Amino acid sequence: MSCGASSALNTNNARRCLCPQDEIQKKTYSTSGGIIMADLTREDFLKLDRKDQLAPFREEFYVPEGVIYMDGNSLGAMPKAASKRVREVTDREWGHDLIKSWNMADWFNAPRRIGDKIAKIIGAEEGEIVATDSTGINLFKAISAALAINSDRSVIVMEGSNFPTDNYIAQGLIEFLGRQHQIRFVEKDSIMEAIDDNVAVVSLTDVHYKTGHLLDMKVITAKAHQHGALTVWDLCHSAGAIPIDLNGANADFAVGCGYKYLNGGPGAPAFIFVAKRHHGKLKQPLTGWWSHRSPFDFTRDYEIGEGINRMLCGTQPVISLSALEVGVDIMTRVDIHKIRQKSKKMGDLFIASVEQKCGDYGFGIASPRNADERGSQVSLTHENSYAIMQALIERGVIGDFRAPEITRFGFTPLYLRYVDVWDAVDILSDVMANEIWKVPKYHVRMAVT
Ligand SMILES: Cc1ncc(COP(=O)(O)O)c(C=O)c1O
Repeated sequence: MSCGASSALNTNNARRCLCPQDEIQKKTYSTSGGIIMADLTREDFLKLDRKDQLAPFREEFYVPEGVIYMDGNSLGAMPKAASKRVREVTDREWGHDLIKSWNMADWFNAPRRIGDKIAKIIGAEEGEIVATDSTGINLFKAISAALAINSDRSVIVMEGSNFPTDNYIAQGLIEFLGRQHQIRFVEKDSIMEAIDDNVAVVSLTDVHYKTGHLLDMKVITAKAHQHGALTVWDLCHSAGAIPIDLNGANADFAVGCGYKYLNGGPGAPAFIFVAKRHHGKLKQPLTGWWSHRSPFDFTRDYEIGEGINRMLCGTQPVISLSALEVGVDIMTRVDIHKIRQKSKKMGDLFIASVEQKCGDYGFGIASPRNADERGSQVSLTHENSYAIMQALIERGVIGDFRAPEITRFGFTPLYLRYVDVWDAVDILSDVMANEIWKVPKYHVRMAVT
């Protein structure tokens, strides 16, 4: 069967198969319906692994035997150096050196130090990012600060289908500010027309958590600025996955998490970016002592600190920061363009393989077929997605489910191999062909999906 089954997966995109074009180009030929890929084989994928320049990075991560981990878009795998580093922090820095470590081990500067490293990954300058708090809390601070700068305006533009916490945080903030602001909810195709002179803030997620569609940060930011609005970008699904150039795009604020593609560990501290040009006017309501001009003077009254320190609040989770730093350090050693290239190819191959092996089972595709319009995940739709994913997980293929009908498969080029993509789809095909997903236990909803 060929990937001419491109029509077998339902899609909103134009009918075409965007198969990888290089090493396996010999297997493609054109028809009036687009490019059709002849049968892929496991050997094709193994060949790609043998040539893969990123392959050695897999050794730096702990990937359990028998697991094909396709959920690094939700929780990144553990760098082997992270457990060693965390032990060092607990045993030596905390256990032995105790409180002296705030100075001796530079704990106090960790948010700035790690922020500067993250800056290199996402196109920011030193002093524009701190690693701190959660994405949600950072979003609260960023939108508050942007609203304070644009205090004569009342509209926030957001994508209604965004990860809900972004909407909830904005709604909570509006309530807190006495309902003087409104959210203008739109979807991706109407974002540009929703930006007008009433807009204070355009707060969007670069890569959509469910579908993986990618927004054009530069174009949207330019449109926002043309109308005097500020931008807040949520980079949860892009930092460490795709090349981001915050300053090149003239972005104003950005937030993102540490536990996905930065491999910082469960609940890792997040980060917040504020472009230097806004630092003079920067104010946010969580004015804890770490954002004070001189925290160790212990004065009664708040005096605002300098630069990006204004985005800090209080004492930071040092152990978590130390694990995050290990993940971030790995990322600073990798060419993000190589990561992107491999992840696009993996996504294309995944789609082609699903079409080849699972074309008859009623899957749809919720992600853009064009890899340039997609982040580092492919989302399939199916009415039995939850049970299918549970059956896959029990067979070692770990992705996740997003209600009501999406199975997400993430591509993390540092520790996922091409052959894993082939094997995962093989297992998916087995789960479907043998109706394994029908087993009742796979239908029992767990708290976390
Ligand atoms: C786009 C986006 N924003 C925010 C979050 C979560 O934010 P927090 O780390 O505050 O729970 C997620 C979680 O997956 C997300 O996908």
